[in-house]
Amino acid sequence: MSNVDYLSAAVEIAREAGKVLEHHHEKGVAVEYKGDYDVVTAADRASEKLIVEQLRQRFPAHSIVAEEGGGISNGSEFVWHVDPLDGTTNFAHGFPAFAVSMGLARKGEPIAGVVYDPIRKELFAAEKGSGAYLNNRRIRVSKTAALAESLFGTGFPSPRRHVDVNIHFFHQVSMLSHGIRRAGSAALDLCSVAAGRLDGFWEFGLKTWDVAAGLVIVTEAGGRYEDMRGGPYELGSEHLAATNGVVHEELLRLFDDVFQGRYRVPIPPIVPRTA
Ligand code: IPD
Ligand code: CA
Ligand code: CA
Repeated sequence: MSNVDYLSAAVEIAREAGKVLEHHHEKGVAVEYKGDYDVVTAADRASEKLIVEQLRQRFPAHSIVAEEGGGISNGSEFVWHVDPLDGTTNFAHGFPAFAVSMGLARKGEPIAGVVYDPIRKELFAAEKGSGAYLNNRRIRVSKTAALAESLFGTGFPSPRRHVDVNIHFFHQVSMLSHGIRRAGSAALDLCSVAAGRLDGFWEFGLKTWDVAAGLVIVTEAGGRYEDMRGGPYELGSEHLAATNGVVHEELLRLFDDVFQGRYRVPIPPIVPRTA
């Protein structure tokens, strides 16, 4: 079976899962906690159940890693990385930025991916070697060449947020570029890089299901990704930087300064108000 068949199966399943999310979005959902600030809803579970059942039916030999624990490991070199609802915090608050994300990796390399945003009815899809598409139209990364003219995306994890150092990077990039959008769905952020809506994206601590689909989509749209220190990014690496390729080196030079504690723009002190 070729990648094309994997991709069209994933597209069908992601659209079905998107309907499940839409349904729960319309009727409203109760929020539960997986950790102190880490929320989960019935929609996450219902979407994952549908996706895993469908994948197991169509690709019984493949392994599945799914965020809510419904996956299966059978030693296959093909592994589906499934985020049934990326952007759960947005979803729980009715903030319309969330998606289904399904990426297929072969021997650890992402080879096909679908990200579906059921609110905007935007379906991003790509397979290795065949380009990236938004609703069947070819997409490409932006041509923005300077950090000072770029718009970036980033995110902050819900669990273990007290050890996340991203605020240092956030400050520097926000001072030296057109700004940063923190939209709350890493999968959609990567698709925004692919579609040229953002010039780059970075985050610490992302899981394989957050990025497996988005990474193929970025690469096939002409973008580039590495870890934030310029080393190879493998699924599950500590941090990720994905860009249009053109601003990549300049962004990584800024990150290097921040990693070394060299802040180009100091954080302004709060001056006490005088009576
Ligand atoms: C989260 C989103 C968010 C990112 C977090 C992820 P979830 O995924 O992608 O944008 O900043 O790191 O955990 O929990 O909504 O599936
Ligand atoms: Ca996620
Ligand atoms: Ca999720």
